[in-house]
Amino acid sequence: MKISGKTRVCGIIGDPVEHSLSPVMHNAAFEELNLDFVYVAFRVRREELGEAIIGARSLNLHGLNVTMPHKNAAMKYLDEIDSTARSIGAVNTILNKEGRLIGYNTDGIGALKALKENGITPKGKKLLLLGAGGAGKAIAFHAAQEAEELVILNRTPQKAKKLAEALRKESNKKINGNAFSIEIMKKELRDADILVNATSVGMHPDVNQSLVSPSLLKPDLCVMDIIYNPLETKLAKDAKAVGAKVVPGIEMLAYQGAASFKIWTNHPAPVKVMKQTALNKLSESGVYY
Ligand code: ATR
Repeated sequence: MKISGKTRVCGIIGDPVEHSLSPVMHNAAFEELNLDFVYVAFRVRREELGEAIIGARSLNLHGLNVTMPHKNAAMKYLDEIDSTARSIGAVNTILNKEGRLIGYNTDGIGALKALKENGITPKGKKLLLLGAGGAGKAIAFHAAQEAEELVILNRTPQKAKKLAEALRKESNKKINGNAFSIEIMKKELRDADILVNATSVGMHPDVNQSLVSPSLLKPDLCVMDIIYNPLETKLAKDAKAVGAKVVPGIEMLAYQGAASFKIWTNHPAPVKVMKQTALNKLSESGVYY
């Protein structure tokens, strides 16, 4: 990698951030396209977020990804927020456009792209979404525009209900929010076409956990888990075992990264390279998230 006085600097802000896969993924992509960009991880404490973003503008950083715990809080330090990110209520990408910081959210775009690239089109289908946290909200926003029916289940039911209500105002689709329970899950899964897990259940180190009883899974269901550590969650394994189609979480990671890459560079991202680099890094060892 050659770094010059003209090299554009992108990065990720979060806490913790040292295990992020984004630096290897984006640097591989910049290298692949021979772009004079570099990507680094910045650990930014919650109480220093404002200074970090103001500093990013002063240092003329070109772009940032924003991860936990700053996705909501970062919004108030930006000059502009695109309408999708505003509706979602969170940003995961910032572009420095001639000194103006613009916020975007590519999480939901990445999830929907991951489904489509794996041959799953939500149009005309019922999508059952588990989780109404940051990632859940972003996926719900895009799913509400594309699927025929969207059901959001969340451990804290009020969050799912509130999200469904907000989405109903902007869409004429059937959208509902509810609590998790075996009965509700059973009822909703019966006619669901796509199941997306956007909760953290099943993530390392709790690799033997899944919110969905294997007996409720069926071969004609498409399942996407947004968790990529482990690469194959218990939910994904259970779904595969009944013959269901499975989209692993690494796909969403790569496609949300690809969408951020496009925002910063204006080039279509080399997604294959990004995915492979992330996979290599994950299989090298350790705990990544
Ligand atoms: P992210 O930004 O990754 O989505 P988040 O906003 O903290 O992270 O959301 C985590 C999601 O996982 C939420 O939907 C959360 O449910 P609550 O809203 O009820 O907190 C869900 N979640 C986490 N642990 C869970 C558990 N043990 N059982 C069920 N849902 C869980």
